[in-house]
Amino acid sequence: MKILIALFVVIFVDVVASQCLQCKTMKWAKCDGDPCECTLPLADTTPQSIDCTKLIPKCFLMKAEMYRAKKNLSTRSIGGKPVETAFVDNDGIYDPECENDGKFKAIQCNNTDVCWCVNSAGVRRSDKGDKNIKCEPVETYWVRLELKHKATAVFLDGDQLKIGIQRAMQERYMLDPKSVEKVDVKYDKDGRLIVVDVIKAKTDSVTDLSRMSYYMEKDVKVLPLFHNDKQLFEVPVVGGNVTMESILVYYVDEKAPTFTMQKLTGGIIAVIVVVSLIVLAGLLVLFFLARRQKAQYSKAQGREMETMS
Ligand SMILES: *[C@@H]1O[C@H](CO)[C@@H](O)[C@H](O)[C@H]1NC(C)=O
Repeated sequence: MKILIALFVVIFVDVVASQCLQCKTMKWAKCDGDPCECTLPLADTTPQSIDCTKLIPKCFLMKAEMYRAKKNLSTRSIGGKPVETAFVDNDGIYDPECENDGKFKAIQCNNTDVCWCVNSAGVRRSDKGDKNIKCEPVETYWVRLELKHKATAVFLDGDQLKIGIQRAMQERYMLDPKSVEKVDVKYDKDGRLIVVDVIKAKTDSVTDLSRMSYYMEKDVKVLPLFHNDKQLFEVPVVGGNVTMESILVYYVDEKAPTFTMQKLTGGIIAVIVVVSLIVLAGLLVLFFLARRQKAQYSKAQGREMETMS
């Protein structure tokens, strides 16, 4: 009997202890101790303590990714711009400086002498400059997630898909609907495009929209950050699950970005090329018409001369 009780106690202790062994929202975290504490290595110094009941701040995640890359550990239409001042992240990952609470510092230098200003999502919103560049904290209050889903064999009910996305935002991406002004989902069936607008109050500097957009970005790129990375981001609909093929994230800040000249994006370059080709074709047509007219004119002139003589 005593042995049996002892066995139960051992199993019980084991179960309790094993609950400390994983961090639901971060697969690279290590959990240990009593009370259980989870940490994430960001540098060679003390690992960052994290709260695994919430999504981990994007700044910590980016820093952890850079650190893992350095250590050679594995890491990784409707729509368009919602407003003229919206922009996408063209720079990709860098080694960010984070505040103690996981917010991005307004100035980022990627361990070099070249610095730039970022918004609260850590995305560059100024030209690159030197270490003396002046940056102020700027909130990203609106995030547009443009998702394209994979083609499905079954008939897709748009409303069901929209509800599924709304549910995923709340459950998988832990977005509290009370903390934002709206979560708007639009669906274009022919384009297989799902556009999710998440907008919070401009004055709200507590709600962090960059976490859920970063987790979703990683999910769609099939590099999930969650502990259970077998469980992918899928939207259940009648007859199966819908999975995503690509994602584009637009950021809208409370203040417009200060790029002096935004880089020409592929789309604009394509438009310019097409316009140039049309102009060139027009010029060629004019040139040949003019030559033909001139040729006819000289022929006519020749004939007139003949009749005259
Ligand atoms: C930051 O630095 C790393 C290497 O040190 C580089 O690979 C990366 O492109 C840099 N990122 C930016 C945005 O400058």
